[in-house]
Amino acid sequence: CGIVGYIGKRDAAPLLLEGLQRLEYRGYDSAGIAIHSSGTGKNAGLKTAKAKGRVRELESRLPKRFAGGTGIAHTRWATHGAPSDENAHPHLDAEGTVAVVHNGIVDNAAELRAKLTADGVTFVSETDTEVISHLVGRAQGATLEEKVREAVAVIEGTYGIAVLHADFPDRIVVARNGSPVLLGIGEHEMLVASDVAALVSHTRQVVTLDDGEMATLKADDYRTYTTEGSRTSATPETVEWAAESYDMGGHDTFMHKEIAEQADAVDRVLRGRIDDRFATVRLGGLNMDAREARAVRRVKILGCGSAYHAGLIGAQLIEELARIPADAEPASEFRYRNAVVDPDTLYIAVSQSGETYDTLAAVQELKRKGARVLGVVNVVGSAIARETDGGVYVHAGPEVCVVSTKCFTNTAVAFALLALHLGRIRDLSVADGKRVIEGLRKLPAQIAEIVANEDRIAALAADYAQAKSMMFVGRVRGYPVALEASLKLKEISYIHAEAYPASELKHGPLALIEPAVPTVAIVPDDDLVDKNRATLEEIKARSGRILAVAHTEQEKADHTVVVPRNEPELDPILMGIPLQLLAYHTALALGRDIDKPRNLAKSVTVE
Ligand code: G6P
Repeated sequence: CGIVGYIGKRDAAPLLLEGLQRLEYRGYDSAGIAIHSSGTGKNAGLKTAKAKGRVRELESRLPKRFAGGTGIAHTRWATHGAPSDENAHPHLDAEGTVAVVHNGIVDNAAELRAKLTADGVTFVSETDTEVISHLVGRAQGATLEEKVREAVAVIEGTYGIAVLHADFPDRIVVARNGSPVLLGIGEHEMLVASDVAALVSHTRQVVTLDDGEMATLKADDYRTYTTEGSRTSATPETVEWAAESYDMGGHDTFMHKEIAEQADAVDRVLRGRIDDRFATVRLGGLNMDAREARAVRRVKILGCGSAYHAGLIGAQLIEELARIPADAEPASEFRYRNAVVDPDTLYIAVSQSGETYDTLAAVQELKRKGARVLGVVNVVGSAIARETDGGVYVHAGPEVCVVSTKCFTNTAVAFALLALHLGRIRDLSVADGKRVIEGLRKLPAQIAEIVANEDRIAALAADYAQAKSMMFVGRVRGYPVALEASLKLKEISYIHAEAYPASELKHGPLALIEPAVPTVAIVPDDDLVDKNRATLEEIKARSGRILAVAHTEQEKADHTVVVPRNEPELDPILMGIPLQLLAYHTALALGRDIDKPRNLAKSVTVE
């Protein structure tokens, strides 16, 4: 799941462990490290240490003599083989001269394993990665680069790898196909990582490898080339995200910090984009002129988890403001059903990380079939950002907590911008354009106001933490809010929760209502408010408890969290925020590991 490597004058092990800690947020179940030992005689060569569990565990297991200026390390999220010491990376070849860390999945691992076993190789782990170590170890090439090229030539599947070899102590060789590999360019030292988080405390100069690219890192220089061996040009880019973004900054969890910083985050996604003169927005990265945008007949939005829910809000905004039929679907489903790819449809892939494999695979399939695909992505230069034809960056800044909060909100705002842009070149009036812009401008202050009301939500959460299950309901604009709030609660509190359109309650789920199953109802003061009030009555009549998120106190609710009024189209953006706090405080009351919920990873880069 996470790769870090270092070559330079400093001692590698402490640096690599710090790098692994920076990657902890992505979720993992074991960790490991290999270095070129600076010792001589018996102490020369590669040394490794591995541990199931947290990076702390690995640190406590490091042998006494573990000094050396070159090393690679890894945090693993189990795919092939259970989490264990043996299955943790790095994996060695039979002689112990090659060490490999790997992200991704080798699709033909079983076949290669059988071949290698027939040739007399004994495997010590159940992983697909160990296959790569043996392939490199047995390669005929004279240089490490040639050996790695021979190995990747027979691998099918995805990989980001970093390789050490006992006979080539002056270098680390890395390769990428489908899993991110970033080079960090320092002074007399080089780093490699799968995520910029592990680099930013050492350098802001970063080279992102493309698929099919490899690199050799030495302390004083680096070069990049294709897997066929021809040189590629790689100019470092300066990353914007500061190292402080990866610190908790006085909060007890990253989730709390990220909820609290949403007013600033929304300010960032709006900055420089509003065009008051034409009551519209400028989105420089779309790569789509007005004529092309007017030709769009339908919009299909794809994403996973919270990104999918943000896409549902986005689809409604596009329908409401641009009057283009739009819907959202989980990318994970879309890619498996042979969907009709229509040339008049604009496809939009949504992803915080820009790495989610299901979403990336959907993009690749769409592109194969000739579709135009835009990205609404947070991580600049990520795989989905690169693979799409253009898009809107979300500018939420790094999101460290496994569950999404500020990025979800910013994605919804980015969709409001896109919807406004599409609307204003079709049939949205100047007056409506102005109205929505005014609404967008109000968001940061209103978000700050909601967050300032945290104590009240915390007090309510103590009570809701006792629930056996919870129901979240909303109508039309409120429904995606209900879905996301329910997901948030499940993910971090482990309380079972269901989200339903309020209108569907009477068609089944009303049967679940009882005092131990409270309902959270989204009740904006819009044209559907009477319908929503009727839903509250239905629940009350079955002795259900109700927490309403509304613009005014709701008589039928046991509690109401009042949120500030904005334009009706933007209500979903604000109404989700108190429910992030509700999930947070419920999980806190239950003593959960909020930033790293069980069984989940921040970026699911595998199928
Ligand atoms: C994982 C995370 C979710 C996230 C989803 C999509 O499942 O646990 O919190 O919403 O991936 O991630 P993305 O980076 O594509 O937005």
